Amino acid sequence: MKGIILAGGSGTRLRPLTLAVSKQLLPVGDKPMIYYPLSVLMLAGITEILLISTPADLVQFRRLLGDGAHLGLRLSYAEQPHPGGIAEAFLIGADHIGDDEVALVLGDNIFHGLRFSDLLLETAREVDGCVLFGYPVHDPERYGVAETDGDGRLVSIAEKPAKPRSNRAVTGLYFYDNDVVNIAKNIGPSPRGELEISGVNQVYLERGRARLVDLGRGFAWLDTGTPESLLQASLYVGTLEARQGVRIACIEEVALRMGLIDAAACHRLGEAMAGSSYGRYVMDIAGELA
Ligand code: G1P
Repeated sequence: MKGIILAGGSGTRLRPLTLAVSKQLLPVGDKPMIYYPLSVLMLAGITEILLISTPADLVQFRRLLGDGAHLGLRLSYAEQPHPGGIAEAFLIGADHIGDDEVALVLGDNIFHGLRFSDLLLETAREVDGCVLFGYPVHDPERYGVAETDGDGRLVSIAEKPAKPRSNRAVTGLYFYDNDVVNIAKNIGPSPRGELEISGVNQVYLERGRARLVDLGRGFAWLDTGTPESLLQASLYVGTLEARQGVRIACIEEVALRMGLIDAAACHRLGEAMAGSSYGRYVMDIAGELA
């Protein structure tokens, strides 16, 4: 299975924070936002990942993550020059996907929960059609909204509906079989001129091949769209990290735990950042798991 991180957009609700810096590079706790969705794909066992962003921002993503080899990954990069909708990622990434399945994660989505990796690995093992993840929110009208039957089959999906039919937001993590490339090519733009992800999901729904996994209330799916929610996300991460002494979305640790790098390589990555507590944590973890 291939992975795609979509980190485009202009972060208008976060200006002036995003005037010179990509939203997905802003700090959440002590690390760049992009570490969180990247670690999600890594926890799903995915190592071939395409990062899509604006031409201007790609330069910085490359500087941050390079070719990914230091993390046991194969990272590649592609441009989305204009915001053409989330589903455009499957056109831009068609060669990368090839005849494989694909997991798409939005670069500003932060997930955290117990045994999330198990859930991701299990989902990645058996993708029949598409798998979406639902999360209860108090303001569903801001998101894609899903309704399911008792077996988790999707029965309706709507993009930012004025009158939501449930409080279940569709999160920005999606697993698809290879049909997604053709479906994205054929849906056509929405009235806003974008290839909407909900349009793709609607096609799977009509084919009876869309499933929604409930993340539920014990789970954290955090918003980072406004200065307030960005601060809340940082406080959430900082609170748990300080309390437990473990780090969320430490990509070096994830690479080590997933067997992508060995302890010595992990230690070297930490050493290069030894001036920060993050770097020292990476060294400590390498020592513990050696
Ligand atoms: C997008 C999707 C929406 C989804 C959300 C999750 O909205 O269109 O269906 O619920 O991401 O983050 P956007 O955040 O681009 O407005």
